[in-house]
Amino acid sequence: MFALTKKLLAALLAFLPAPALADTVAITAARMLDVSTGRTVADPVVVVTDGRISAVGRAGTVAIPADARRIDLPGKTLLPGLIDMHVHLSRAPTLSGYRVLEYTDGFWTVLGVPHAEATLRAGFTTVRNIGTANYSDVALRQAIDGGYIRGPRIVAATYSLGATGGHCDSNTNVPSQARTSPGVADGPEAVRAKVRELRKLGAQVLKVCATGGVFSRNTDPGAQQMTFEELKMAADEAHMLGMRVAAHAHGAEGIKAAIRAGIDTIEHASFIDAEGVRLAKERGTWLGFDVYNTEYTLAEGARNGVLEENLAKERRVGTAQRENFRRSVQGGAKHIFSTDAGIYPHGDNARQFAVMVRFGMTPLQAIQAATVNAAAALGRENDVGTIAVGRFGDLVAVNGDPLANVTTLERPAVVVKGGELVRGP
Ligand code: ARG
Repeated sequence: MFALTKKLLAALLAFLPAPALADTVAITAARMLDVSTGRTVADPVVVVTDGRISAVGRAGTVAIPADARRIDLPGKTLLPGLIDMHVHLSRAPTLSGYRVLEYTDGFWTVLGVPHAEATLRAGFTTVRNIGTANYSDVALRQAIDGGYIRGPRIVAATYSLGATGGHCDSNTNVPSQARTSPGVADGPEAVRAKVRELRKLGAQVLKVCATGGVFSRNTDPGAQQMTFEELKMAADEAHMLGMRVAAHAHGAEGIKAAIRAGIDTIEHASFIDAEGVRLAKERGTWLGFDVYNTEYTLAEGARNGVLEENLAKERRVGTAQRENFRRSVQGGAKHIFSTDAGIYPHGDNARQFAVMVRFGMTPLQAIQAATVNAAAALGRENDVGTIAVGRFGDLVAVNGDPLANVTTLERPAVVVKGGELVRGP
């Protein structure tokens, strides 16, 4: 009976003129930063219709529909929602080293829920989650996109692909309890199969571990761990399938092999040399130096369970990385905003802006790394990274001028995602 009524109603509704169901939001502010040019526009109006920007311009030049909801932000500066190209939402800095063994597998996905919300409230409306277990990032993305929980748009890599015993394998167990990460693949053909498998199970981007790392056991950050042939296979196969590739790479040789292999973004890039910077420029490879987290790890790591082996590596890598970041900026390479959140607390992502400025960027360059550049590196310029018609209605508003003081981004007054207010005013 009920089913019949519903069917009847649907049939009747089909004959009625379509009602205006569009959800419209009009956002006004004192200023808007055009992140592509660095120009500040006075009295902006941004209209968001059904989650996407439908109009943008100066007050008086943009028609605001009568039924629009309004978000008026006098005194504030609007920017596009921020993008962090390197996060681990299911990692907690306070549960480092062997502490992870106390928790069951699904725990880490659950932990991703508050981390996703903290990240979004910090103004990061899009993140690339590059490396996790149990497909936790796919689960979080489904929960966020389905409206079950709040969080940023997630581009998920699922498991990091790497060599046996490499940075992205499971290296913490004694031999009698040894296990192999599901992301491990040795040799080009195994790499090809692994890329296909990860994509099949939900990966939208591929993460490979080209060198050793800081937080793994028995690996040397300076040493290359995937051959050029393996890296090339990873890049070619992923590109054929329509995915971009991020390479974890600290050592100079691993960085250059990854760039030559056609990988899209180099994460960490700590020991990059002059030739590496030149190659990256030539190939248009994006570099993502995670220059904030060193301070956090050195101050809090021991208390958080980070092993001395790893703290020692951090002391070595952190200083070199910052100096090489400065050289890379001076050398004119292209940079993205990659923080490795999860190494430090989620929600503190924007603290990296000040460090990027301290080591040679202008505030505008640092902001571009987290907006236009990140969007280009994702291949998502039509969705995110700028305040322009057709993009998602993802916005941040801050008090004051972010070009005069980037630390204003650490405390966004307002965050809007898809036209929905997620923070303030
Ligand atoms: N996930 C990275 C690794 O373990 C973090 C490196 C952090 N340190 C740094 N100075 N960027 O290698």
